[in-house]
Amino acid sequence: MNSVTKLLGGLLDWIDARYPLTKTWNYHLARYYAPKNFNTWYYTGSLALLIMAIMLLTGIWLSMVYIPTAAEAFASVEFIMRDVEWGWLLRYIHAVGGSAFFIIIYLHMYRGMLYGSYKKPRELVWIVGMLTYFTMMGIGITGYMLPWGQMSYWALQVVISMFGAIPVFGEDLALWLRGDYVVSGVTLTRFYALHACALPLLLLGLVFVHLIALHEVGSNNPDGIEIKANKDANGIPLDGIPFHPYYSVKDLVGFVVFLIIFSAVIFFAPDMYGYFLEGINFAPANPLSTPEHIVPNWYFTAYYAILRAIPDKFIGVCAMGLASVIFIFLPWLDRSPVKSIRYRGWKYRTALIAFTISFVSLSWLGTQLATPVFVWMARFFTLIYFGFFFLMPFYTSTDNDKPVPDRIP
Ligand code: HEM
Repeated sequence: MNSVTKLLGGLLDWIDARYPLTKTWNYHLARYYAPKNFNTWYYTGSLALLIMAIMLLTGIWLSMVYIPTAAEAFASVEFIMRDVEWGWLLRYIHAVGGSAFFIIIYLHMYRGMLYGSYKKPRELVWIVGMLTYFTMMGIGITGYMLPWGQMSYWALQVVISMFGAIPVFGEDLALWLRGDYVVSGVTLTRFYALHACALPLLLLGLVFVHLIALHEVGSNNPDGIEIKANKDANGIPLDGIPFHPYYSVKDLVGFVVFLIIFSAVIFFAPDMYGYFLEGINFAPANPLSTPEHIVPNWYFTAYYAILRAIPDKFIGVCAMGLASVIFIFLPWLDRSPVKSIRYRGWKYRTALIAFTISFVSLSWLGTQLATPVFVWMARFFTLIYFGFFFLMPFYTSTDNDKPVPDRIP
């Protein structure tokens, strides 16, 4: 043992006597036994962590120059794009990163639906995950306002007017949120405080709880078989392998592939043809000129299509809220004894395909003008969307599921 190793070993012993460093490392990484059959879907969690780190870092840098006032917000973003060294890159990483975060999180949630990861004993992992999703939505909405372009301003009008649709106290609530009688610089500054400080702190806290909850019960896997049910004489799951180094190295491969695709978008199509950054948002906010077509960011357009499909505004707002909240109840709506899609019967498989088509179609319809044909299509897909959830207790309890093996094949 050379002297440097000896010194480092001594330092580690010193820390371990005062703080559970090695214990934490072992509990969460080196002796965290993960199922041996993780597939590509299992990259999504570590990728979400990577993007979160990228968003926090680039956000901190942007906030050094960005000015959250109605008079200067738009110009400060232009200043970042044109005059700040590498400012354009920081902004594009942050803007494209927002969309990438939602793509990865939607895949992450979908993985849960494929493999029944929300089922016992992972209900809390799922519920806390949903809370992180709602926090991300808050970060997405408040962030969309900050460039103070035309779409920032008018989308904010739409969001706040939705609260105004709530009977009795809706108008007071909208006033409280705006901090003014109209959307103004006061609204922008408070949304900045939420976007850059309060919500990211909440997100970090929730992700921490999400992972602690996951490591308490252990990971699910593509076969939906509980590896803790079969352990060797030392209490190590027979179908488990240590997370580190096996999956930590595997996740690095995922990082490299992701970063190549991410860079390609940043350098060659940062606005993604209007889906990531809208053309009209490159014009400064103008309270006197309403854009013809107001749309939220693509990751909310499924909910927006549901809102527009329902003629009554209040019922539309409720349906839109329910469309996102209803995922929380999946652990109890799903009555099947089987977790993974691999062993499910045709009913759940068909329902999941119908749900997927309806979610993608609603997302597309939400980006289009609300013509009568598109509104009727949105009504049809809204019915399928809710049918997937409300009928779930019936079709999952009568499905012809296949027998699940005891061990991972
Ligand atoms: C910032 C957001 C999030 C981050 C950073 C995050 C991170 C992670 C990580 C690192 C894992 C373990 C690795 C893996 O299984 O892929 C995980 C597992 C999991 N996450 Fe998330 N997550 C987030 C949001 C969500 C959301 C929105 C949901 C769903 C509502 C969710 C549900 C789950 C479930 C059910 C598992 C266990 C999956 C299994 O074992 O099969 N997470 N998450």
